[in-house]
Amino acid sequence: MDIKLLVGKCSDVDTVVIPVFQDEEEVNTCEGTAAVIKNFRNKELFIGNNGEIFFFTKESENTIKNIILVGLGKKNEIDMEKIRISYSKVLKKIKELKVEKAVIKFFEIEELCKGKTLKAITEGIILGNYKFDKYKSGEKKETLKEIIISNIPKDKKEKLEEKLQEALVLAETTLLARNLVNEPANVIYPETLAEEAKKAGIKYGFDVEVFDEAKIKNLGMDAFLSVAKASANPPRFIVMRYFGDSENKEDILGLVGKGLTYDSGGYSLKSNDGMVTMKCDMGGSAAVIGAISAIAKQKLNTNVIAVVAACENLIAGNGYKPGDIIGSMAGKSIEVLNTDAEGRLTLVDAVHYVIDKEKATKIVDIATLTGAVLGALGNTTTGVVTNNDEFYGELIEASKLSGEKFWQLPAFDEYKELIKSDVADLKNVGGKYAGTVTAGLFIGEFVQGKPWLHLDIAGTAWADGEKNYLSKGGTGAGVRTLYYLAKGHKSCGCKVK
Ligand code: BES
Ligand code: ZN
Ligand code: ZN
Repeated sequence: MDIKLLVGKCSDVDTVVIPVFQDEEEVNTCEGTAAVIKNFRNKELFIGNNGEIFFFTKESENTIKNIILVGLGKKNEIDMEKIRISYSKVLKKIKELKVEKAVIKFFEIEELCKGKTLKAITEGIILGNYKFDKYKSGEKKETLKEIIISNIPKDKKEKLEEKLQEALVLAETTLLARNLVNEPANVIYPETLAEEAKKAGIKYGFDVEVFDEAKIKNLGMDAFLSVAKASANPPRFIVMRYFGDSENKEDILGLVGKGLTYDSGGYSLKSNDGMVTMKCDMGGSAAVIGAISAIAKQKLNTNVIAVVAACENLIAGNGYKPGDIIGSMAGKSIEVLNTDAEGRLTLVDAVHYVIDKEKATKIVDIATLTGAVLGALGNTTTGVVTNNDEFYGELIEASKLSGEKFWQLPAFDEYKELIKSDVADLKNVGGKYAGTVTAGLFIGEFVQGKPWLHLDIAGTAWADGEKNYLSKGGTGAGVRTLYYLAKGHKSCGCKVK
């Protein structure tokens, strides 16, 4: 159930969350708990270490107050991610208490600006509250309805409420992406993904156009259609447009999301284990739908066009096969060595389209592209391949605000040699090693020298279990970073990430 999060006063609420820094000598509380906290600290029951949660009750005027202490570690070591994680733990503790309302005391420290603090608290709570359980029958008892953030400085209330709204939009659109990934492939297939994009367009304020198979054929997207053709569910090409900067109409950020609503591997069939989570193979498209939703809702002063080549990679008599040589919208021929390396085939037509037809000047593609990225970076960090260090720098600045982790992989010319084919212009697999780099560089062959970032989220789009503010399943990876990337970095001047 959704929790309402608002700025307000702590009157008549019996559950109170108090932040405690490890190096804060006296904790100031109006609940008369300062002495009790001091006592706990003396006994080392609770000292305020980062991530520590301590619960006790206190009797006051005929009622019992629930007090939750949240440890935030040392002031000069705080960052937004620690706050997100700590407050997702707070949320879980509040839920255990089965109360309807709780108050969270805001905190101000010199090291971190108030806006970032409030955003991180909000994200920790809303993202931490998410669980995909709509298909489970039986009553879902959720008691918690409202969380009030109190002690917001009066003179900053308006500005901070704006920050709260921005954080709520980012959390909501991240959850939109999680839902799209978590819906199974019998519910989300190309046509329904396009419908969801349309719904988001209406709700958040951007334009959506959907191309059917005939139009896709007319555009010459041979690579995309080769992947799509073995499915009874026809492909869809989704174009989402948001123009918020009329003074710089020519500057267009093109977002391209991998939209394999299911990836069986095709004739290069995956194992059953490899296939069970492959509804997540549209995680890139979920990220761009989520991001453009947030960008439009916040009316950012920028122009963004997001595209998704949505299809399923299945098997049928007319399916594409290892050994086939196929074309592409850009006119390059491609030798197919493995039908499971299908994502790059759909992406290159989408990248070519967004540059050629929509006139995008900068490109970001985001895709659950290679298992190899899990080998290289695990499931915490998104792998990046780029042709532009400055653009990469902007991504890193954006990631400091979102808390998502990115790491650049090498893109030397030697790797480009690996995707040259003997019989066609390119081949879709670059050999046994450096699979994430060669997959990225394959897409790089279609960006026409434009500044480009390739984000491989195969490790980060899906969580195998609950961790901090992630729940099992889709994570919404990329939504918030793409939002901040589109927004552009404006330093608020505070020292901390
Ligand atoms: N969708 C997969 C990549 C993937 C793997 C996503 C694990 C999420 C989790 C992609 O289409 C794929 O199958 N890639 C192959 C490429 C190989 C055949 C060159 C892979 O990584 O094995
Ligand atoms: Zn595949
Ligand atoms: Zn795939």
